[in-house]
Amino acid sequence: MLHSATLNVMIKAARRAGRGLKRDLGEVEHLQVSLKGPGNFVTAADRRAEETVREELAKARPAYGFLGEEGGAREGTDRSHRWIVDPLDGTTNFLHGIPHFAVSIALERDGAIVAGLVYNPANEELFIAERGKGAFLNDQRIRVAARRRLADAIVACGLPHYGRGDLALARNEIAAAQQHFAGLRRYGAAALDLAWIAAGRLDAYWERDLSPWDLAAGLILVREAGGFVSDLDGGDAIFAKGQIAAGNDTMHHELIRLLKEAGKEPAGP
Ligand code: IPD
Ligand code: CA
Ligand code: CA
Repeated sequence: MLHSATLNVMIKAARRAGRGLKRDLGEVEHLQVSLKGPGNFVTAADRRAEETVREELAKARPAYGFLGEEGGAREGTDRSHRWIVDPLDGTTNFLHGIPHFAVSIALERDGAIVAGLVYNPANEELFIAERGKGAFLNDQRIRVAARRRLADAIVACGLPHYGRGDLALARNEIAAAQQHFAGLRRYGAAALDLAWIAAGRLDAYWERDLSPWDLAAGLILVREAGGFVSDLDGGDAIFAKGQIAAGNDTMHHELIRLLKEAGKEPAGP
């Protein structure tokens, strides 16, 4: 399949960083049994991956701005274009040797996301999308699932952990999800959750407390696959609120309604 020049640049950067991460995953598997553990090694792998992506993108588009999770924001001389990059989404999975993580690269033009890529180097699944051109997994066109019944839906979410987030609210939402959906999943890589919505594997997904680099590439994948994304009130403030709800039109709508109801429940013990 022929890709645009922009996608070629993004793919080259993701594949190079991905090769490094895949090698590093092998080392992480060994480090699980060492007393020191893989923590520092993973931090270094994460930074290396971002540097690789930044270097490749800058080589091809030196004037563009760059926002990366590790290195923060760098302004470019071209004020209308900016890369938004998470070099390793799913760090906790990676740290544990779980092969579910991704390099995520998005291109923003004048405040709108116009291209997105999510690449899992562990199984070499490459999800790409450009505005108006559809979404693809390894060059095969993908679409969101057509399921309409909540009782048939597999839904992914993020869970607050480690003392962060609103645990009582999350418990109410999970209880509501358990009552209505066929299954609830917590995979641990937001970019892949969105890519899997685009591929029709998951029917809906919601999460809070996320950053633009977790979401930017995934949201254009979902839109270009015919799905809907919004904040949890159904609005456009996805980055500002750090929230996302995604799915086909029915699932997206029903998910937001259900979460709103769950938010009204009194907090349990
Ligand atoms: C995290 C993952 C995870 C989500 C977290 C994110 P990271 O990104 O996307 O699924 O639940 O909140 O921060 O830290 O692995 O890049
Ligand atoms: Ca992330
Ligand atoms: Ca990350």
